[in-house]
Amino acid sequence: MSRELVLKLKTDKNLKDEELLTLLKTDEVDQFLRQEADLVRRKIYGNKVYIRGLIEISNYCKNNCLYCGIRGENFGVTRYRLTKEEILSACEMGYALGFRTFVMQGGEDPYFTDDIICDIVKEIRKRFADCAITLSLGEKTKEAYEMFFKAGANRYLLRHEAADFNLYSKLHPKKMSLESRKKCLFDLKEIGYQVGSGFMVGAPFQTLENIICDLRFLQALNPDMIGIGPYISHSQTPFKEYKNGETKLTLRLISILRLMFPHSLIPATTALGTNSENGREQGIMAGANVVMPNLSPENVRSLYEIYENKLTVGAESAQELDKLKKCMKDIGYEVVVDIGNVKR
Ligand code: 5AD
Repeated sequence: MSRELVLKLKTDKNLKDEELLTLLKTDEVDQFLRQEADLVRRKIYGNKVYIRGLIEISNYCKNNCLYCGIRGENFGVTRYRLTKEEILSACEMGYALGFRTFVMQGGEDPYFTDDIICDIVKEIRKRFADCAITLSLGEKTKEAYEMFFKAGANRYLLRHEAADFNLYSKLHPKKMSLESRKKCLFDLKEIGYQVGSGFMVGAPFQTLENIICDLRFLQALNPDMIGIGPYISHSQTPFKEYKNGETKLTLRLISILRLMFPHSLIPATTALGTNSENGREQGIMAGANVVMPNLSPENVRSLYEIYENKLTVGAESAQELDKLKKCMKDIGYEVVVDIGNVKR
């Protein structure tokens, strides 16, 4: 019965809510689901794994998302921001290692004004003409997104976090709204960015019905990239008592996403790698095709602690790309030097 659902999802790229619910609940088809997702991914992307160099430019944040370790009101965090020179030398190091996508990610740090961001993007664009520049800097005005795009940014990552109105408001302070998040995402698409969205799996209060709502939102947005990872608790947040999301459900969802969005770029996230041993490898085998090793200067890596015990070493470190290559090779995949654009 559930096998039929997998095949139906593969051909129709869609299922009814109650069918999705059944798939989300059953573990007996996991192996079959994973196999089918892997077949789809291999048909489109082969066994290639795209890499992105993640540069965490600032852990200052004006927001107060209740789950996040670098929320503004966590006064226990040692705050840092990178200089333009530090960002550029991270790119330089990354380029030499074989990275052709740089992701500038950060909290919503008022220091990084739209002009400052543009200036940095222009410089990266000038020096690394054959690379993609991805920004992940939160909610901005449409004008700002347009400026960054003109300056040379190509992609933007902004997880919607929760498409269910009630859940969104439980996870975020009153100041933030799902409407505004959605508007940003559609603005980004309209401007012409390759857009990435996503959500946490097993966030406090999240139900399977909420996850279906997330899938429906993703169908409406039709993003180029979809990042999901398990929620991981942080002791200096209001959610410190809540348990971590499950690796198993995250993997199941990666496979479901691959079948629903065959062409999408799906990372095996650091959270997945942190939550369980071999999480990253399992993510790739479940249908993911992107890994985002950390390219930030080593002295700040441990400070970008959105959740506890976040992996920054070994295959998560850009400098240790050889380790990642080996991990991927051992399971039958190949890390490539490639800009890694979405195939449509
Ligand atoms: N656990 C897992 N993921 C988290 N994120 C933020 N805090 C946590 C946490 N405690 C995710 C959010 C954000 C992305 C960069 O990291 O979904 O968009």
